[in-house]
This record gives sequence, structure tokens and C-alpha cells, in this order.
Amino acid sequence: MRQHVNPLSSNFNQIERIPSLREMFGDSQLNLHLDIGCAAGEFLFDLALDNTSWNYLGIEIREKLVKNAKLKVLEREIKNLYFIFGNANNILDHVQGKSITKNLKSISFNFPDPWFKKRHYKRRVIQPEFINILSNSLQKGTLIFIKTDVKDLFDYMDSTILSNFYFKTLNKKDFDYSKSFNPNKFKTNREKYVIVNQFDIFERIYMKI
Ligand SMILES: C[S@@+](CC[C@H](N)C(=O)[O-])C[C@H]1O[C@@H](n2cnc3c(N)ncnc32)[C@H](O)[C@@H]1O
Repeated sequence: MRQHVNPLSSNFNQIERIPSLREMFGDSQLNLHLDIGCAAGEFLFDLALDNTSWNYLGIEIREKLVKNAKLKVLEREIKNLYFIFGNANNILDHVQGKSITKNLKSISFNFPDPWFKKRHYKRRVIQPEFINILSNSLQKGTLIFIKTDVKDLFDYMDSTILSNFYFKTLNKKDFDYSKSFNPNKFKTNREKYVIVNQFDIFERIYMKI
């Protein structure tokens, strides 16, 4: 079992310089998707290589994983994929993060750390303040995808997002994935593990209104 990183540690108060979208991507005009807590980024590599008409950005709090992912992007000369190291909550709250949020078409939170103990709930990545930051800076129509195998975490994330009146739930049955950031429905590493072990998956899509 890996040791979870405490996102509230003061180590993450300082954020790294965030380049402009033009510096990050070959074509900064493409639709932009952000995956929060992307770990080593395998899911984003799959997406970026398969779907070159989108730009993909990953934020991850474990520095080594981000360093390695960035090296892989350079080696493979991938122009539609970029990684940022740090606590997503601090990054998107920062003035530099606003250039990202206002350009996003969608965000995914795939299997975030559950932080089971009640006194640790404040370490969960989805927080009311964070959802307020997103509702203030995302364009109308931006989508948020959440997915987890922990029912309690799902309920917590769902009620936190819906307590903000600027987000509404989309009906997953009517959702056309072919036009989304993940047209071929690639799966994250955690999702593959969850499927093999036949755990339940709880997921929902929201739209900024
Ligand atoms: C359970 S893993 C899931 C990884 C991947 N999304 C998947 O589905 O396989 C959660 C990831 O989120 C990262 N993480 C946790 N809190 C974060 C935060 N506040 N900002 C950025 N990354 C965070 C963790 O380091 C970890 O890599």
C-alpha cells in the first residue's frame, strides 16, 4: 500500500510556475481536458495518443510521478499532453491557475483518495471551497466527471458538488461519449483493478450552468 500524501501539508503551499497554454501544447486552441490526481498519467497518455484533437492536462501531488511523466512526454514528442505537480486545490485557486480553468471543456476526478477517517475528510480533493472556485472560474457548459469505488466518498463528492447551485447532474444514459474527452472510454489503472475485482463503481457527470 502506498503512503498517501497529505495535501494540506505546507510543502504544497508554494506552487510551481504554470506555463501558458501556448507553451504547454502544440495547438493551444484544441479542447482542453484536466484530470485531477492523475498519478503516473497512463490514462492521459492513452487518451492523448488516441485522440489528438484534444489537449490533456494532468495535476498530481506526487512529484516523482510528474517528473517521470514529463520526461516521457518529451521523449515521445507528444504535443497535446502536459503535467503539473502540486495540490490541485492550491493550483486552481492561484491566479496562474485561472488561465487553465477558464479554458477547460471538462475535468475528471477518477478514484480520488478516500481518506476514510472523518477527521481526514478535509484532505479529500473535492471540498466546498474548491467547488466554489471552480463554479466561479469555469465557463458555462464545462463538464465534471467523478468516479470512485467508495460509496461514502461518492455521496460526499456528489452532495458537495450539488450544494453549489451552478452545477447540475447530467443523465449518464443520454450522454454521448463520442464527443467527450474520452470517446473510446479508456480506463484508469484504479478502474481496471476495480473491474478485475468486481467492486462497484459509482460515477456521475455534472455541467456548469
Ligand atoms: C487513488 S489514486 C487514483 C489515480 C488515478 N486517477 C486512477 O484512477 O488510477 C489518487 C491520486 O490522486 C493524487 N492526489 C490526491 N490528492 C491530490 C491533490 N489534492 N492534488 C493532486 N493530486 C492529488 C494522489 O497522489 C494519487 O495519485
